[in-house]
Amino acid sequence: MKRLLATLAIVMMTSAAPAVAQDQLIEDAKSYFEPIPTVVPAPKNNAITHDKVRLGKMLFFDPRLSSSHLLSCNTCHNVGLAGADGLSTSVGHGWQKGPRNAPTVLNALFNVAQFWDGRAEDLKAQAKGPIQAGVEMNSKPERVVEVLKSIPAYVGAFTEAFPGEEDPVSFDNVAKAIEAFETTLITPSSRFDQFLEGNTTVMTAHEKQGLQLFMDKGCVACHNGVNIGGNDYYPFGVVEQPGADILPRADKGRFAVTDTASDEYVFRAPPLRNVALTAPYFHSGNVWHLKQAVAVMGTAQLGEDLNDEEIDAIVAFLDTLTGEQPQVEYPLLPASTDTTPLPEL
Ligand code: HEM
Ligand code: HEM
Repeated sequence: MKRLLATLAIVMMTSAAPAVAQDQLIEDAKSYFEPIPTVVPAPKNNAITHDKVRLGKMLFFDPRLSSSHLLSCNTCHNVGLAGADGLSTSVGHGWQKGPRNAPTVLNALFNVAQFWDGRAEDLKAQAKGPIQAGVEMNSKPERVVEVLKSIPAYVGAFTEAFPGEEDPVSFDNVAKAIEAFETTLITPSSRFDQFLEGNTTVMTAHEKQGLQLFMDKGCVACHNGVNIGGNDYYPFGVVEQPGADILPRADKGRFAVTDTASDEYVFRAPPLRNVALTAPYFHSGNVWHLKQAVAVMGTAQLGEDLNDEEIDAIVAFLDTLTGEQPQVEYPLLPASTDTTPLPEL
């Protein structure tokens, strides 16, 4: 919180300066943001290999990881829909509605931790959650392993992906393979990245005005770094809590993880990459338009009623954060056998 106030103070002091020149705009932007790297950093304890990525992709798309054989990771993180599901809150096993909006899996590896409250340390830890969650895929580690072991092509794929291991078809390795696939789900070369790399003509004057406002108004205090967010936690409602439709009072965010009073209604500032493609917004998913989301941020986080012109410019800037979407070819999934557990609906 102290760091946030200090950054906000610096940002507010510089906002009084006259309009800065183009080079200065790039220099300022570079001090807050980084482009998506071309070489993706390897996750901890999980060397990335071609075989692991191939297996992870099959698992990501395989609905037999759910007890109903109906829901896959891709159901709620549709790679054709920018890695999200376009619903307020996700619908999982037995048509149950979960409590939170599904964040995108695109560029998720750059986030400091996973989930709106950061309760999973990394993507491998994360992947074990939804498979077992009653409102999501509703399965069990033993059942997942039983399904996979009943399908010879999967046993072969695990043996290739985890060479030398005595028992390669394990729940841990399911998570590792999915994490490996997720490291390929990045969206480089957004127009903003090209701008950061020195292409000054790739953004329009209106978009640059939005970038300037994003920095001057103080959005950058919480949305910065490679993912323009996703790297720290802040109260939703630093200045004024939004109404219960946007911030339902039953979900206290990070408080459930740390059990610390100051973490009530604290959430990870979401990454804003591809945000133009991932409506609806906020963990409650009740705001359908980016303009409204920006206005809410103004009043809730900055104590400022942004005017229409400012909101339009900021939204124009946010549009430049859309990167090249991964082209994912749907994998062929090996057939079930006589010993594969049957779907349980
Ligand atoms: C969160 C991946 C299945 C709904 C996440 C995140 C990742 C992810 C990486 C965190 C993203 C972030 O924090 O920015 C996966 C994988 C799945 C899977 C690998 C398959 C094993 C599902 C399914 C549903 C779903 C089937 C819907 C029924 C959600 C929701 C969240 C989430 C609602 C946010 C939950 C919270 O913050 O408490 N998922 N997911 N996911 N996913 Fe999934
Ligand atoms: C959420 C933009 C200022 C922290 C969001 C979202 C947008 C956004 C578009 C929704 C993203 C999504 O649901 O995927 C902005 C803009 C700002 C600004 C344009 C400046 C006008 C700030 C500041 C902070 C902050 C200063 C920290 C003090 C957060 C948090 C959320 C969020 C914690 C998640 C809220 C939740 O759903 O729980 N922001 N933001 N934002 N932002 Fe900002």
